[in-house]
Amino acid sequence: MERINYTQSAQLLERAKKVLAGGVSSEFRKYNHPHAIFYTHGKGSRIYDVDGNEYLDFTLSQGPLILGHSHPHVLKSVSDYSETGQLFAGQHIKEIELAEKLAALIPSAALMRFCLDGSEAVQTAFRVARAKTGKQKFLRFEGHYHGWLDNVAWGISAPDVAALGAREAPVAHPWTAGLPDQSRNEFMILPWNDLALLEKTLAQHHHEIAGIITEPVMCNSSCIMPQAGFLEGVRALCDQYGIALIFDEVITGFRLSIGGAQQYFGITPDLSIFAKAMGSGYPISVIAGKKEWMHLIENAQVIHAGTMNSSNATIAAALATIEVLEQENPYDRMFALGNKLMQGLREAAARYHLPLLVQGPGPMFNTGFTGLEQVKDYRDTFTYDKTRLGKFIAGMHDRKIRIIGRGLWYISAAHTTADIEHAIATATEVMSGM
Ligand SMILES: Cc1ncc(COP(=O)(O)O)c(C=O)c1O
Repeated sequence: MERINYTQSAQLLERAKKVLAGGVSSEFRKYNHPHAIFYTHGKGSRIYDVDGNEYLDFTLSQGPLILGHSHPHVLKSVSDYSETGQLFAGQHIKEIELAEKLAALIPSAALMRFCLDGSEAVQTAFRVARAKTGKQKFLRFEGHYHGWLDNVAWGISAPDVAALGAREAPVAHPWTAGLPDQSRNEFMILPWNDLALLEKTLAQHHHEIAGIITEPVMCNSSCIMPQAGFLEGVRALCDQYGIALIFDEVITGFRLSIGGAQQYFGITPDLSIFAKAMGSGYPISVIAGKKEWMHLIENAQVIHAGTMNSSNATIAAALATIEVLEQENPYDRMFALGNKLMQGLREAAARYHLPLLVQGPGPMFNTGFTGLEQVKDYRDTFTYDKTRLGKFIAGMHDRKIRIIGRGLWYISAAHTTADIEHAIATATEVMSGM
C-alpha cells in the first residue's frame, strides 16, 4: 500500500490551533484520522484534502450531503436566488413554496417554522410541548443525541456501562463542563427500546412529562432500529397521557424516505425536527408539527425567532435538494447500495473471523466490533471494542475511504455500485491485516 501523506493538513492544523480553539469549529471535527484534516473541495461521492488525497466519502459531512458533494442543481439554485438578495428580515416567496412542499411530504407537518440547525429546533419543540401541556420535563433516551445545548448534553457519555446505574433510574452523565445544575432537572432519561419500562415510568410520572423526544432510529449510537411495536407503543402512551411525541428526524429526515421516518414507519408524531439532509449542507432546519401544537407559535404564545432564519441561500438549497429527491427518487437505490455494502462488510469480517456487527437500515448503518449479535440500546454499545474500530477506520482512511470515526456510514444518491464494490474490497484488505 502506498503511504498516504497528511503533511499539509498537519501543518495547517498547527496554524489553526493558534487562533481556532483546538484547531476546529466543531468538536467532532477533531476526531478524524490521524487528526483534523483540511479539505479543498468535494464532488459527488468524493472529497479532496489539501495534500491532494481523494477520498471516497461515507461521512457526507455527518449526514447532510444526501445528494453528494456540490450537486449542480443545488449550487445553481443557491447562486441564482442569492442574486436577488440574501436576507430580508421579511418574507419571500420561496419560503412559502418550501413550506408547502414540506407540508405535502411530511405527515406531521401542518405548520412549521424554519431555523438554522437541529439543536435550536429541538429546543423550540420543548418550548411548544411545555407551553401546551403546562408540564415541565421532557423524557429522552440514553445515547440519543439531540444537539449540544445544555438540557440535552447529558446521557450521551459515560466512563463505562456500570456508571449508568439501574435501568429503571439511569444516571445521566454530563457530556461537558459548564452545564447548569438545573439543566439536569429538565428531563427524565431511560434506556431506549424498552416499552414496558417506559409504561411503568409514565404510570408514575406522566403528570411531569410535557414531551417524549426520540430519534426514530437511534442513529447516533450504533444505528439501532426500533424494536417491533416500540414506536407505536410510545405513540399510544403519549396519546393516553397528553404528552407531545417529538421525533428528532435530524438524521432520518429525507434519508429513510422523503417524508422521513414518520412516513417510513407509519407513525405520526406531534412535533418533528428536520435538519441535515434537508439542505445539502446549507444551515437550515425546520420545527414542524400538527396544527394543535404549532398554533402556539402561530398565535405567539410561544416565541420562536432568529435573525438568520430562512435566508435566500438556505431556502433555495432545501427546495433544490427536495426537487432532486422527488425527481430521482433515489431511495430504493440508496437502500440497495447500503445493504450491498453492509453484506459485503459482514462477509469480509466472517472471512477473517472478526466479530464485526453491521446494523442499520441501509442509507445509514453502523459498524462495530462486539460479541453481540444485535445492539439494541445504548448500554449494549459498551461491548464495542473501540481500539479495533479505530484500527479499521484508520486502515480505511489510509486507503482513502472516509467513514465517521464512531463507525457510522452514510450513503448518498451520488454513490455508485462501483463505489460500493471498491469500499468492500478495501475493507476486506484492511480486515485481512487485523
Ligand atoms: C439526531 C440529532 N438531533 C439533533 C442534532 C443537532 O443538530 P445540529 O448539529 O444541526 O445542531 C443532531 C446532530 O448531529 C442529531 O444527529
